[in-house]
Amino acid sequence: MTPTWAQLVYLGCAVAFILALKGLAGPRTARTGNLVGAAAAVVAVAVPFFYLELDHVPRILAAIAIGTAAGVLGAQRVQMTQMPQMVALFNGVGGGAAALVALLELEHMGDITPGFDVAATAFTIVVGAVSFAGSVITFAKLQDLMTSRPVVFPALPLVFGAALLAAVVLSVLVVRDPSVGTGVVLALLGLAIGVLLVLPVGGADVPIVISLLNAFTGLTVAAGGYVLGNVVLLVAGTLVGASGTFLTLLMASAMGRSVANILFGALRGGSTLGAGEASDRPVRSAGPDDVAILLGYADKVIIVPGYGLAVAQAQHTLRELVEVLQGRGTRVDYAIHPVAGRMPGHMNVLLAEAQVPYEQLVEMDDINSEFRHTDVVLVVGANDVVNPAARTTPSAPIYGMPILDVDQARQVVFLKRSMRPGFAGIENELLFEPTTTLLFGDAKESLSKLLSAVKAL
Ligand code: TAP
Repeated sequence: MTPTWAQLVYLGCAVAFILALKGLAGPRTARTGNLVGAAAAVVAVAVPFFYLELDHVPRILAAIAIGTAAGVLGAQRVQMTQMPQMVALFNGVGGGAAALVALLELEHMGDITPGFDVAATAFTIVVGAVSFAGSVITFAKLQDLMTSRPVVFPALPLVFGAALLAAVVLSVLVVRDPSVGTGVVLALLGLAIGVLLVLPVGGADVPIVISLLNAFTGLTVAAGGYVLGNVVLLVAGTLVGASGTFLTLLMASAMGRSVANILFGALRGGSTLGAGEASDRPVRSAGPDDVAILLGYADKVIIVPGYGLAVAQAQHTLRELVEVLQGRGTRVDYAIHPVAGRMPGHMNVLLAEAQVPYEQLVEMDDINSEFRHTDVVLVVGANDVVNPAARTTPSAPIYGMPILDVDQARQVVFLKRSMRPGFAGIENELLFEPTTTLLFGDAKESLSKLLSAVKAL
């Protein structure tokens, strides 16, 4: 029995997790939210030491010390662009741990009547294993340890379906007769399903799958909490499961695609990785001096950052340019598209790193009515998120995705290196409009030249 004091502390931790999520919802409160959540997790881990008769305390403490050191070192060393794979790894370890705990629980379940407890245990084993193996493959894809292209083979749908069916049958067997042996086979099947689920997903879709696997881990941990009778695990798991599910759905809808299309699109023949050809149609290009003049005479400028800004690591130079323009009396805002870049909040994190004030970052819905009153829009390494094909071309893979209405501005300047398309692999008609100018080159170099040219005006 958990003593009342411990239950109260667990309740406090659960409330702290909810407050942490609330804090994480906004850039101003995210840091505090993160600290509140981490502190509650430390307390929740420490509490059992004070009321349980634990065996192997030195080993448990050693495992905690190793895990803490690995976590701290990993988080300190990771590059911002490697954040999705780190999240994937941490998430996978959580799912794997829950599956292992559930496997051990099976050992004590031999004598109990089959029921919901054993069903929850079987669920934890299989979904935890899926989450672990899937996360390892997402990590390998994003870390370039394997190809980031969709990996498909003709029998994949059949093998995947058979593995799912076998997992259901084995789960029923485990529920009827809980044995560690059957549990281990179930876990191995879960690992295979995790691998088969993620293999067909193209590299740039992987962040969405990470979020989905995150939701799986949440559900696994919640089920584990139920099996162990631990309220704090139940609440934390449910929160992770719910927020992971919401994040997955929000990202998919912001990309104008269904989760099924992201997961299984490659199986139907359509690649989920953009690979379009560079266009050779004529465009209007200009040098940094010409663009500086455009910017210098503008009263209102909007910056649209995209994936290329992150690739070029040009966020600091961009901030400097904006400050110089503001110093000249120009009104400048940043327009933030929810799926610009390659991970949720990518542009917010990138610009926050360059100390851009939050007030200057305006969400898509709030800024879209502003474009028609804007003199110049500077599109820095973005493409799909401003492509009008999302509104006009039903056959386009991004059709239906809400975009930034950049085409309504008086002048649009694109900073990109070539005529290659963006992630979706399709041409952007806006590049060929008479009001559009292209400044070719790496965004960092182009912005540095632009900065010097604007300063010299
Ligand atoms: P993209 O459409 O991918 O366009 C990126 C642009 O940056 C390209 O035009 C590329 O052209 C340019 N670029 C690349 N490196 C550059 C560099 N060093 N200097 C200058 N330009 C550079 O990016 P976006 O507009 O941000 O759209 C994001 C896309 O990713 C959407 O389709 C979205 O659905 C997808 N996606 C997003 C997420 C999340 S959660 N954010 C997750 C998965 C997928 P060049 O090669 O010619 O330079």
